[in-house]
This record gives sequence, structure tokens and C-alpha cells, in this order.
Amino acid sequence: MINKATDTSSNEMWKNWNNYIPFERRAYRFTDDMLPLFYKWLGIGKDSCILDAGCGTGVFGRYLAAGLECGHVIGFDINQLFIEYGRKKLVELGLADKVMLQVDDGFALSFPSNTFDAVTNYTYIGVLSDPIAGMMELIRVCKPGGIVSCVVAANSFPPVSWQGDYPFDGADELQKLTRIESEIFSKYARKAADLKQSEKWHAQRYPKMFDVCGLKEISVYPYAFALNYNDIKLPLEYRQDLLLGEIEDELNWLDSRYIEKRDIYIEHGFFDQQFNRLKELLHIKYNYVKNNFANDRSFEWCGGFNFIVAGRKV
Ligand SMILES: C[S@@+](CC[C@H](N)C(=O)[O-])C[C@H]1O[C@@H](n2cnc3c(N)ncnc32)[C@H](O)[C@@H]1O
Repeated sequence: MINKATDTSSNEMWKNWNNYIPFERRAYRFTDDMLPLFYKWLGIGKDSCILDAGCGTGVFGRYLAAGLECGHVIGFDINQLFIEYGRKKLVELGLADKVMLQVDDGFALSFPSNTFDAVTNYTYIGVLSDPIAGMMELIRVCKPGGIVSCVVAANSFPPVSWQGDYPFDGADELQKLTRIESEIFSKYARKAADLKQSEKWHAQRYPKMFDVCGLKEISVYPYAFALNYNDIKLPLEYRQDLLLGEIEDELNWLDSRYIEKRDIYIEHGFFDQQFNRLKELLHIKYNYVKNNFANDRSFEWCGGFNFIVAGRKV
């Protein structure tokens, strides 16, 4: 199985992905409280040389770097735009001497074998058309005795979120339409094949995948995160920008999802009329959040369950 020709069909899609903003917005998923646990589970010490695979703009690598004394993080990604943005961000944050980002193809990494003390990634292996080939490269560049790990989103439906008790007309209808749309999308319209992802090595099989790849002492750890947009411990502007950004993304994705999969939506009772109404309500919410956020008491929040699979290279 491991010797078959590598399927790199996911590469073109990722090289050409032109929107890094949703990845950059993930910073809230990583809290200071969790950092010691990440270090323990991912086998990281304060002087480790860490690889963050498929790093996107480097959000996860930046987070891990915060706890290092003399170690450093190297992140790679196949998307040049993500790397360029990530490098600017590192300079802005004064982290450019601790985190280095480079363009590289995870199926054929430029690093010598046995380079890193710990090799990790946040939701990268699962986007590859050939996760085993990607894993074997990560294992190759990890030093013997080091930990190779994947942080993976657990598929949870309905999503862990509450859209808030907003006081505008149509807020309840918005909750209902959003739920129906996302259910149709998750159950019927989204296929791993569209994303060139492997149907076989889905996240729940990662422990077995680690075993197939020759890793030992395989462990699974639980990890959850949540963000309450009304949380006064976080800067108001930050929370408002995140929420407005989420609504903008939802509007963009809704357009592309519905246009591409209209037949499937219609087959499951979601017609143009509902689609247009959902968009209209999202615009109303956007304007409400833009104009009233400072005094808002709607308590919208979101969260997610992840798990971490880790194994030792012998
Ligand atoms: C779901 S994103 C996760 C990004 C980042 N880890 C984060 O959490 O923000 C998956 C990432 O894998 C990268 N990727 C996909 N195929 C790759 C490959 N063959 N080599 C390197 N990176 C790749 C994509 O460009 C994208 O940035």
C-alpha cells in the first residue's frame, strides 16, 4: 500500500486557493490555557525544533512558538500566497526569528531526513489526496524518538454553535434556514471527492493510519475550543471583526455552494426562494452587528471538537 504511486491530485486546488483570511481568523482556537497540554501531547520541549506541516498562514506555528525558549518552528505550505502573508504577519508580531515559513510540497519535502524534534499539523493531512504519502514524508523528516502528530477536526453535526438571540425581525427564521442549509450541505452536497480528499483515510481512522505508517505508542487526545462573541475579556473590535468576517464568509460560501449544487438543494426542498431569503437575513444580521455590537447582548458563540493523534517514530 505504501509503495504505490503517490496521488498528488489535491495539489492544484491548494496551490490556487486565493483566500487565506478564514485560516488566519482561527487564532481564537488556540488559547494560552491549552499550550502546556499541546506541548505535552505533541512531544514539544522549550528548545524543540518543530515542523508545522501545511501551515497555511502559520497561525498554529505562531501559537506553538510562544512557549519556546530557544527552539524554533518551521512551517511549510504549498500555497505561496499563504506563506507570503504569514511572513508579513511574523514580522508584524516580532516573531520572525522564531518561526520560519517556506513554500514546499508535502509529498516531496525539501528537508533532509531526521531533521525535526517534533512534527505536527493542524487540519493538513486530511486535505491531501494521499494522506499516507504525506504522513510518510512527515515521518521521514522527524528525528527517531520524536513525536509525529495530527490535530484533526472531529466531524460534529449539528455544529457546536448558537447564532445568538438577536433582536431583529427574522432572527429565528435565520437560525432555522441556516440549520436546514448546512444539514443539506453536510449530508448530501459536500463530497470528499470534490475536495480531492481521501475517502478511505478519514479522521476517525488516523490511529490505524499511524500504525500503517510504522509509528509506535499511538495516542488519541481530546481537544475543544469555543468563542463567545460577547466575551468582554477579549477586545471588542476583535470580536466584532471576527463575527462580521464570519457572516461575509457565510454569504460568499453560500453563493458558491448553492450555485454549484443547486439541483441537490432543490431535491432536498431548499429552493431559490429560501436561498434568497437566507442571504437577505444574513445581510440584516451583518448590518445589525456592524451598528449595534458594542451594546449587543445576543450571546452568539461557536466552538468545535478536535482530537489529536500522536505517535512516536522509532
Ligand atoms: C485546511 S488548511 C489548514 C491550514 C493551517 N494548518 C491552519 O490551520 O490554518 C490545509 C493546508 O494544507 C495546505 N496543503 C495542501 N496540500 C499541500 C501539499 N501538498 N503540501 C503542502 N501544503 C499543502 C493548503 O495549502 C492549506 O494551507
